[in-house]
Amino acid sequence: MLISIRSLRLSLRFIVPLVVALILLAYAVVPLVDKLTLRWFVRDMDIRSRLIGNTLQEPLAELLRQGNSDKINALLLRAIQDERLLALGFCGSDGTLRYHTTTFPEAIDCTSVTARKKGTIPLHQLPQGKVHVAVHTMMDEGAHSGDLVLIHDMSFVEIRSADTRKYVILLFALLGIVTSVITVFVAHLSWRGWMEGVRAMLRGEGLLKPFSQPAVASEFQPLVGDLRTLLRTLDSERRFADDATVTWSPDSLRKLLHKQLTGERVIVVSNREPYIHSHADGKIEVHRPASGLVTAVEPVMRACSGTWIAHGSGSADRETVDHHDRVQVPPENPEYTLRRIWLSPEEESGYYYGFANEGLWPLCHIAHVRPIFRSSDWLQYVAINQRFADAVIKEAASDDPVVLVQDYHFALLPAMIRQALPKATIITFWHIPWPNPESFGICPWREELLKGMLGSTILGFHTPYHCKNFLETVDRYLETRIEHESSTISRRGKLTLVESYPISIQWPPPWQETQPSVAACRAEIRAALGLSPEHKVGIGVDRQDYTKGILERFRAVEKMLELRPEMSEHFTFIQIAAPTRSALDDYQTFEDQVRNLAARINQRFARGNWQPICLKAQHHEPEIINQYFRAADVCMVTSLHDGMNLVAKEFVAARDDEQGVLVLSQFTGAAHELPEALIVNPYHIEQTAEALYQALTMADFEQRERMISMRALVRDFNVYRWAGRMLLDAARVRQREKLADRIGRES
Ligand code: G6P
Repeated sequence: MLISIRSLRLSLRFIVPLVVALILLAYAVVPLVDKLTLRWFVRDMDIRSRLIGNTLQEPLAELLRQGNSDKINALLLRAIQDERLLALGFCGSDGTLRYHTTTFPEAIDCTSVTARKKGTIPLHQLPQGKVHVAVHTMMDEGAHSGDLVLIHDMSFVEIRSADTRKYVILLFALLGIVTSVITVFVAHLSWRGWMEGVRAMLRGEGLLKPFSQPAVASEFQPLVGDLRTLLRTLDSERRFADDATVTWSPDSLRKLLHKQLTGERVIVVSNREPYIHSHADGKIEVHRPASGLVTAVEPVMRACSGTWIAHGSGSADRETVDHHDRVQVPPENPEYTLRRIWLSPEEESGYYYGFANEGLWPLCHIAHVRPIFRSSDWLQYVAINQRFADAVIKEAASDDPVVLVQDYHFALLPAMIRQALPKATIITFWHIPWPNPESFGICPWREELLKGMLGSTILGFHTPYHCKNFLETVDRYLETRIEHESSTISRRGKLTLVESYPISIQWPPPWQETQPSVAACRAEIRAALGLSPEHKVGIGVDRQDYTKGILERFRAVEKMLELRPEMSEHFTFIQIAAPTRSALDDYQTFEDQVRNLAARINQRFARGNWQPICLKAQHHEPEIINQYFRAADVCMVTSLHDGMNLVAKEFVAARDDEQGVLVLSQFTGAAHELPEALIVNPYHIEQTAEALYQALTMADFEQRERMISMRALVRDFNVYRWAGRMLLDAARVRQREKLADRIGRES
């Protein structure tokens, strides 16, 4: 109803002036038509008069010759029986009216009518109306015998002229209506096409191809092209302005959420939970897992509040939740809700250990470990993704929640959520690298995984390179439309923006206020290991994962001691290696390899109490790791392949004394952001050994220069910016979708 009243109003705005203009035009045209028709009628009367004159010529001449007045009068009377012929009169050659019908008007006399000049209109206005006066010259035997005056009634002309005027005006009015209806109809069709185009563009679909959809009128295409460019420019300008003006902090993130997403509480989904409750010595302990994902997302969650859905994997997790499986965290100062999902050992084995960690993890990391794909694992993966999707749907407070899906455990989740909540804004972040299409192609369920991920509104990777790999993979295996310029993929009318968002850490670091001084950390850690205060210490902190390059790192330490024997007894490398995924063969083998290699190197170089490698193969809480970072002279991150690697950034954040050197693998995402680190190829053992030596002998001022620059980057490009950029992009998409819906309703 709204639509029709609106379009009626719009149409009337156009039709009424057009009809009025045409009626006015009709009024202007009518006098012309009058003049024209009058001329036609006069010409008709002239012809008619000539005809009657010719007919009467002979009998009248004969009667005139006979001088028979009665017969002449009778002849004239008979002739005026014609309804239009009003009167007849005969003027003699002397100019007197000799014979006439009784109807002959007194106002007309022979002299004036016979003297009428040629070309003048033969009309006379009499009291009874207009008359046409024609004069027919009578000849008798070649001589002028007099003039027959024929007077026609012209009042019918006025009646006809009034009729004509009426019809002309009616015709013009009709013409106006028909023209405007056709115009409005055509305009309406074009308008609909145009609005369709604008809506598609706002939804992002229009960004995909230059409006060749048949619904979009071709005449609008240049304009649409301009609009698309304008939108893109606006987007990049806004991003630029955001970066220039926003200082990313928990507060700015909260404000952003409040302003741009009307205070939405976000739902985060990840496999690993941020707080694990477990039984230890008859008590329940809580600890934070070694996970880059948790490190990054936890501060964001505290800033935004909302619900985090994750696998409850701790031995005391069930005892610490309420009857909705929820627990408020952080335990000491609750700021958001952790909703736990339970998995049976079989489910965990198939979904987590099997498909996610034996399949997808080695598939996405180039670490030369073969992925293993089993159908039974795949079925568990599908089922558990569905279980998490159901939990999201239950936790959502509206039909358009903002959901942040984390990582390779949930490739199918976005499409499952989308199916139940089509209006949801789903941001999926892939925390690990994305391989090239050939590598990914070996996965038997590659299409299903890609389709699942394309349920996302925004799909984030750490680097543009991973985005490019993903676009190429989709291009290779799915029927979609990809626009590289805007980095978007459209599948079945649904659009996914593929963008890079380099992940980072909390800034300032959470223990900024309470941490011991660098000097205290140095002293404490050296004392604990029985080392002298000047002893050089290197640190490595990783999960014991074959992608982390721990073996290569140890070999580099070995090589350095070989090449620089003077470092013996003056340098110790501490490796904190948190056990991870130990149920898997590859990980057990790897743990053995790490232990054995450390033992072999230690055996080779040990002198007295001194050993070059100190392997601490257990979990350490983040605060403790921070103290190791502060105590170290060098931090080694030698991943063989890593999405980002937050250890590198944590080390930088820990060093407010602006000292310490970072040796960083070129195969980490972090290497793109921290070029001031000593960048190495971990497969090149000598090169890494050289870099380690260079780090240990680097002058303080150079360390400071490098560290200042790295700290500025980690400060500005912190985790709040990571989340903020994704949420801002999501807010833009939401705004556009809402606008597109409104246009859809109103057009
Ligand atoms: C990587 C993954 C995370 C994962 C973490 C720890 O950083 O991207 O998703 O949580 O490793 O692995 P885990 O299997 O112990 O959760």
